[in-house]
Amino acid sequence: MSLLEVTNLRVRYDTPRGPVWAVDQVSFKLDAGETVALVGESGSGKSTTALAILGLVAFSGGTVETGEIWFGGKNLLALREDELRAVRASEIALVFQDATAALNPFLTIGLQIAEVLEVHRGLSRREALVAAGKALGDVGIAEPEARLASFPHELSGGQRQRALIAMSLIAKPKVVIADEPTTALDPALALLVLDLLRREREQNGAGVLLVSHDLELVASEAKRVHVMYAGRVAESADADELFAAPWHPYTAALWRARPRLDGERPKRLAAVAGAPVDPAALPTGCAFHPRCEFVVERCRRERPDLSGLLRAEGAMSLRSGRRSACFEKERLALPREEASTP
Ligand SMILES: Nc1ncnc2c1ncn2[C@@H]1O[C@H](COP(=O)(O)OP(=O)(O)OP(=O)(O)O)[C@@H](O)[C@H]1O
Ligand code: SF4
Ligand SMILES: [Mg+2]
Repeated sequence: MSLLEVTNLRVRYDTPRGPVWAVDQVSFKLDAGETVALVGESGSGKSTTALAILGLVAFSGGTVETGEIWFGGKNLLALREDELRAVRASEIALVFQDATAALNPFLTIGLQIAEVLEVHRGLSRREALVAAGKALGDVGIAEPEARLASFPHELSGGQRQRALIAMSLIAKPKVVIADEPTTALDPALALLVLDLLRREREQNGAGVLLVSHDLELVASEAKRVHVMYAGRVAESADADELFAAPWHPYTAALWRARPRLDGERPKRLAAVAGAPVDPAALPTGCAFHPRCEFVVERCRRERPDLSGLLRAEGAMSLRSGRRSACFEKERLALPREEASTP
C-alpha cells in the first residue's frame, strides 16, 4: 500500500455562476521517499486537490462529493476535524508560499515552532526550544538561538520563509505538500527550499507532493507527474517519459510553451494557445477540444477516460502505467513509443 492514495476525488464549489467541479475523478498515489507532481494551468484544480488531502476544502467553501484519501490505514475524508488537525500538524505538512500570512504575528518564532513539538511529539518546552533553535540553524538562519525570541515582523522576508519551512518540517512529517513552493522566492531561497524538500525525501523518507506550474522544476524534481486540466487528470506518467514524448496534446502544448529564461524560474505558466477553460462553463466532450490541434468529431461529443494504450504490446506504457485522457492517443503516442522501444 502506498503512503498516500487518492481515489476518485471530486470537489465542488458553488459559485454565483453555478457549480464548479474544481477536481473531478482525480486518483493518484504517493510512495515514501518519492516526489509526485501535480502540474497544470491556473484554475486546473491543483491547490484544491492539496486542500482536500489536508481536510481543508470545507474551510474554503468547497464540498468533497466523492472519493477516498488513504493515509496510514485511514480514509482522511472520514476523520473528524480534531483527528485531522493532529494529522495536519505532525504527519502531513504543507509548505506555504506566504510566510507572512502563515505565522502568528503575536508569538515569537521560537514558541511557534516549539509548540508543534510540545503538542504533537510530547517534548517539554525546554527540549522543544532546543530543537527549534537547531531547526532554524538547519534552514540557514544565522544566530538561530537568538532568533528564537524574535517576533515575525523582526525578521526579513527571507528569514520568515525559512522559519516557516522549519516549522512545517520540524515534526518530521511523512507527507510534505509543497504548493508552488518556490514561485515568489528569489533564486537563492528557492534553491534552499528545494534542498530542504530533497532532504526530507532522501533522509527522512517523506513523500513530497509538489504542486507547481513550473514544468522545468517538475521535470527535475518529480518521479511521477499528473497533468491536470479543468479539474481532471489529462495525462499521468513518469516524469522522464512524459517530458521526452508527451502523449496528450495539452501536455505537449504546456511543454512547448514553457519559458526558458536562463537562471530564472518562470513566475507564471506561459500561455498555451486558445482561451483558458472556464470551469463554470465546461465545453461538451473533451474539455480541451476548443484548443486542441488534433480534435476530431468524437472529441466534441464524448469525454475521454484516462487510460493506457490499447495497442501497447511491448511498449513503455505497460511498464510505467502511463495513461492519457485522449481519444487520439494511439495516433499521437505510438509512433514515438515504437521509435523509442528497443
Ligand atoms: N474558494 C473557492 N470558491 C469558489 N471557487 C473556487 C475556490 N477555490 C478555487 N475555486 C475554483 O476552483 C478551480 C480550481 O482552483 P484551484 O485553486 O484548485 O486551481 P490551481 O490549479 O491551484 O490554480 P493556480 O495555479 O492558479 O493556483 C478554479 O476554477 C477556481 O476558480
Ligand atoms: S480527446 Fe480530442 S480534443 Fe481532447 S486532447 Fe484528445 S484529440 Fe484533443
Ligand atoms: Mg493553486
